[in-house]
Parts: sequence; C-alpha cells; structure tokens
Amino acid sequence: MVTLGKDSGQTAPAPAPAPRERYGETLFVRDTPERRRLRLLAEVFDPLSVRTLEHVGVHPGTRCLEIGAGSGSLARWLCGRAAPAAVVATDLDISLLDTVREENLLPMVHDVTRDDFPAESFDLVHARFVLNHLPERDRVLERIVRWLRPGGVLVVESFSWFPLDSSPDARYRKAMLRWGDLVRDTIGTDSRWARNYPSALARHGLRDLGATTVAEHLRGGTALADFWQLTVDMSRHQLIDKGYLTPQEYEDFTALMRDPDFWDLAPALTQAWGRK
Ligand SMILES: C[S@@+](CC[C@H](N)C(=O)[O-])C[C@H]1O[C@@H](n2cnc3c(N)ncnc32)[C@H](O)[C@@H]1O
Repeated sequence: MVTLGKDSGQTAPAPAPAPRERYGETLFVRDTPERRRLRLLAEVFDPLSVRTLEHVGVHPGTRCLEIGAGSGSLARWLCGRAAPAAVVATDLDISLLDTVREENLLPMVHDVTRDDFPAESFDLVHARFVLNHLPERDRVLERIVRWLRPGGVLVVESFSWFPLDSSPDARYRKAMLRWGDLVRDTIGTDSRWARNYPSALARHGLRDLGATTVAEHLRGGTALADFWQLTVDMSRHQLIDKGYLTPQEYEDFTALMRDPDFWDLAPALTQAWGRK
C-alpha cells in the first residue's frame, strides 16, 4: 500500500501495484447495496448521459450496444429511441435488466474484455463507468471500435477525480482519495484516465471527436451524496482493515455526506464521443 502523509489526502506518486482481482469479486459485489447504488447512479447521472446521447443522435433504426448496462436505465432509454432496432445490453450480471420490459431489448451476459461481437455490428456503442474499472481499457477500446460500423459513434463516460485533489475539506478529500486508492490497488480502477478520453479515441482512429466534463456540486443529504456515501460504505471493512482509513476518518466522512451544510465538488463526469 502507498504510504501517505498524515492527513495530506494526496496520493503519493508511487506506481500502483498490479490489481489482484476483478470487478464484482470482493468490491462491487452484486448484493442489495450494489443494486441500490446502481439505481442511485442512474438517478443522478442519466440526465447528463441522455443529453450527450441526444447530441450524438439516436434514431429509429439505430443499432445500439450498451456495455456494462448495470440497472438498465440507459438501455431502456435507448430502446425507446432506437426501436424497431434492437438494443443489445451487456453485463457480467444481467439480473437487473429483468425489470426492463422493452421488446427490442436484447440482454446478454458478456465480458467486454473477452467475449466478442462480429465486426461492424452497431451504429452506436455506449459505456458509462465501465472502462475506468478495466485495467486493459486500451485493448478493450480497440475491440469496441471494431464492433462499430464505419460512420458509427462511440460514447464513453467515466469519473475524473481532479476536483477532489483541491478540496479544502481534508476529511472529504482524504476519504474519497483513499477509497480511490483501494479500488485502484484491488481491481485496477483508474479514475484519472477519462480526462484523456479524446486522445484515446483519436489513437483508435475515431474522428469528429467531442468531449465535456461536468463537475457538479455535492451537498450532504442529496442523492449525489447518498451515492458516494453508499459507494464508500460498501468498502468500509476493506478501507479500515487494510489501513486506508481509520474508523474515525470513515465516520467523519459519513457525517459529512449526511450534513446539508456540507458543500463541495463531486468527482467530475467526463463524457467523450467520436465517429469511426
Ligand atoms: C459502475 S457500474 C455502471 C453501470 C451502468 N453502466 C451505469 O452507468 O449505470 C459498472 C458496470 O459494469 C459491469 N462490468 C464490469 N466489468 C465488466 C466486464 N468485463 N464486461 C461487462 N460488464 C462489466 C458491472 O457489472 C457493472 O454493472
């Protein structure tokens, strides 16, 4: 584990250890809190994602692939826009997609790092908060681009961690950064890569690139604060047992997330898109 100054809340510039496991094994296990977390994620971020998907254009007949569909909220939205075309919604666990009743939805258990699709199968591919969790993200991007037809569009979205670095509140800054260190060390999540999405998309041959980053204000007691509180809470035992946070630091963070007088910037959402 990387050693930090006492309450700096800063990540030391040492190289991250090789990740030991994959998403869903001991972090982000698909139990009741994770299901609730995925639904909160949809509630908070769908309006921003929909705005970007509307910008790139989804029309009747657009063949869509939603990678790592989670709760299925965006797959449902895509179904409404793309019908009669099918929307393929993939995940390692598709149990939450049972509640999506749209006739043109095709749920599929599919590991984006290993399982394939025929080349040029889709007009639109979307992945939100997926690539950041995959250590082989660059190789996965190459695979995804192969699945796009010429002229098709890729939209990717992930968190950008930078608003945390400058937070004036050491309790918030440290708890969030240390949670980020835990997921990085355990499964290889990179919450600092997304700001360079446009360069990555260009490297994979996409054109007509666009990108935006939105840093929303987080207020204690709101859905956004609940989302981050639940996210950190799901790793509470690992954070404390492995020495990333003390019990007191964990309690301080929880109290902030419930305090309506607490305001700060949340991790930003970076969205990028490009055409093949
Ligand atoms: C943070 S959640 C985001 C869910 C959804 N995209 C959203 O933004 O609401 C990450 C999702 O990616 C899925 N996932 C993780 N690794 C995956 C892989 N190798 N292949 C496909 N899905 C994966 C997880 O099961 C989970 O549903």
